[in-house]
Amino acid sequence: MNSQRTHFVFDPIADKYDRFNRLFSFGIDRGWRKKLVQMVQPHPNQQVLDLCCGTGEVVFSFLRHTLARTVTGADISETMIDFAQEKQIRFSSRPWMQNKTIAWHVCDAAQTGLAPGSFDVVTCAFGIRNVPDRQAALGEMHRLLKSKGKLGILEFSLPAHPLGRTLYGFYLHRLVPRLGKCILGAPEPLHYLANSIQGWHDEANFAAELDKAGFKLIRKTPLTGGIATLWLAHSR
Ligand SMILES: C[S@@+](CC[C@H](N)C(=O)[O-])C[C@H]1O[C@@H](n2cnc3c(N)ncnc32)[C@H](O)[C@@H]1O
Repeated sequence: MNSQRTHFVFDPIADKYDRFNRLFSFGIDRGWRKKLVQMVQPHPNQQVLDLCCGTGEVVFSFLRHTLARTVTGADISETMIDFAQEKQIRFSSRPWMQNKTIAWHVCDAAQTGLAPGSFDVVTCAFGIRNVPDRQAALGEMHRLLKSKGKLGILEFSLPAHPLGRTLYGFYLHRLVPRLGKCILGAPEPLHYLANSIQGWHDEANFAAELDKAGFKLIRKTPLTGGIATLWLAHSR
């Protein structure tokens, strides 16, 4: 998917994106993001970057569930960042938002323009499979991390069990487009979602790509029967 097409898919649904996520995953997605931020567990003085941050769900999860005090959220879609900023204003009186700093940045994950070695932790949730040049984006994550910095990736996957995979395939390809059409009003993002999950699964040898980009894979953890996977890697 090129960057223009990314805008085409995500910009029109930005205002409904969070609601769709909740329904599509039966609310499990928040728990997955919490697991992601707790897996990389930043210290209070560490710099944290969430790439492909969308409406800021992972950014807010860091501030809510970890000791992180300063988080940068970056996304190629200005519209998604606008919604993230609206949420920041809405959340501003919550206790977990006090004395916290968020920076938002509109950029391509493969070429952020951010300073090298400026982050202790980089995360990316449900974003890496959308990036057209994945190897370039992983290289950029490596460039942005300090030596021995932590990379946390959360991405959709397919269940290993054949029955689970068949049932999930039916849900993803038959039910989700219908559910999504009612909520989002447009079929394109749902077909894209289903096809991109399948495409990512068929094509990606993600462990090898991490290694090529200069990361040491620490562990890979399947979530909820394998429909999502957490990857933890350290920059070498
Ligand atoms: C499925 S959303 C995930 C959003 C968020 N991480 C979450 O957990 O809800 C994917 C996001 O990746 C962004 N994206 C896609 N390609 C990108 C790229 N090349 N660089 C930066 N962001 C990109 C999209 O704009 C979109 O906001």
